[in-house]
Amino acid sequence: MFPAGFQWGGGLAANQFEGAWDADGRGPSQADFTRYNAKLDPTDMELISGLDTILRWEKEGGVFPKRWGIDFYHHFREDIALFAQMGMNSLRTSISWSRIFPHGDDAEPNEAGLRFYEEVFRCCHEHGITPVITLSHYEMPMRLVTEYGGWENRQLLVFWERYCRTVLSRFSADVSHWIAFNQINSALFDPFTALGVLADPTRDEQRIWTGVHHQLLANALAVKLGHELAPRARHGSMIIEVNAYPRSTDPLDNFGAYRYRQEALMHSDVMARGEYPGFARRYLREHSIELPWQPGDADLLRENTIDFLALSYYTSEVAGAATRIFGVGGWGAAREEMKNPLLQRTPWGWQIDPVGLRTSLNRLWDRYRIPLVIVENGIGEIDQVGEDGRVHDDYRIAYVSAHLDAVREAIDDGVEVFGYHPWAPIDIISSGTSEMKKRYGFIYVDQDDEGHGSRRRVPKDSFDWYRKVTASNGADLDPTTF
Ligand code: BG6
Repeated sequence: MFPAGFQWGGGLAANQFEGAWDADGRGPSQADFTRYNAKLDPTDMELISGLDTILRWEKEGGVFPKRWGIDFYHHFREDIALFAQMGMNSLRTSISWSRIFPHGDDAEPNEAGLRFYEEVFRCCHEHGITPVITLSHYEMPMRLVTEYGGWENRQLLVFWERYCRTVLSRFSADVSHWIAFNQINSALFDPFTALGVLADPTRDEQRIWTGVHHQLLANALAVKLGHELAPRARHGSMIIEVNAYPRSTDPLDNFGAYRYRQEALMHSDVMARGEYPGFARRYLREHSIELPWQPGDADLLRENTIDFLALSYYTSEVAGAATRIFGVGGWGAAREEMKNPLLQRTPWGWQIDPVGLRTSLNRLWDRYRIPLVIVENGIGEIDQVGEDGRVHDDYRIAYVSAHLDAVREAIDDGVEVFGYHPWAPIDIISSGTSEMKKRYGFIYVDQDDEGHGSRRRVPKDSFDWYRKVTASNGADLDPTTF
């Protein structure tokens, strides 16, 4: 049974839906430079390998959809009203760092950026929606990438502290839960997106681990500042949850799958327990990688562990004796090209596995014993608008219903889960491919991959279904009625 006060939310990210990338003093963020090119197959996107590539894409007239998102910046009142109609009582989104500190190293914040979030949060509260806020969702001001080298540079902690102090104190009464970083554990296989470090995970491991250490310090610092400046809120961070089945009953495959999951939890081990786990220390030792420890670092990590752990869950995987996360090139390379024959997949090849979510929630609870919140879970699909002008997305309803059922089971197993934020309450730009056609929302947005369209918002069937779910506090998950 879902407890009273359960957060019925929706998950979003500033860089994927706000748009208005250069409005009212906002500076460019690294997400504004991730490109969509209609000529490329989405599964064959050119990886960002260096600044030269980005600059070349700009010159070639590349399409950068995150710059316009779905223009929430100018539609936020209408969108939040729709979220409230669905019965949402919380909204997980992020603050764009470069809306507040346009270049990252500015001495003073951009007041217009602060005012934007003030209005958004006020509007949320007017509709009975509590903001759950990520401080950095896969973006930092671009200058921190190009001039400073992202989290590889310890100086970022100075800018980060300034940013955290500014928003935590300004919005201390508005936000119930703060999440320092989105999917912080993806740094090891996607260093540009998560760390702002232009590096190849197979060759530049020392640089990436340097960035990882600085980012973990930044997480602890955000928790510390949060407890001081926003004491009524709870302060946590977020991981991408990786649940992998062994490819066979061979004990080596079983251990390989176990180690794969263990490596995916390295970040949450540090954030929840305050120190690097033994398996990470062994890896670093054996690969001659040195973390850039300075006096005070160990205390900072130990004394500022997270109050709760947020997670995204989309899929499960299959892993074998040789599968690793540490030291592999990119998320795709971290997985073996194996799929579970018992599971169906989305058009983007992601396995649909609600039982895996129940397993994950139990495992995380057993490991950390701190409250959990799901801040992303959903299905990317190619929606068709019917003749009646609506999207009849029974596949999305089936997906969310089955995953919510798994959450309910986990809660009945004794796991403390305080919220569920489906990704996403409204269609937005895809993080990985910058596509619009990979739609997750309960509200359709009339816009194509290149930004053409009226941007009209139209509720899908899932919108009505989710309203039924929230109204019954999750007691009615029947996917066939709404
Ligand atoms: C998570 C990210 O990895 O997955 C989100 O935190 C992202 O930002 C979501 O949108 C789904 O991925 P994608 O690539 O389909 O948008």
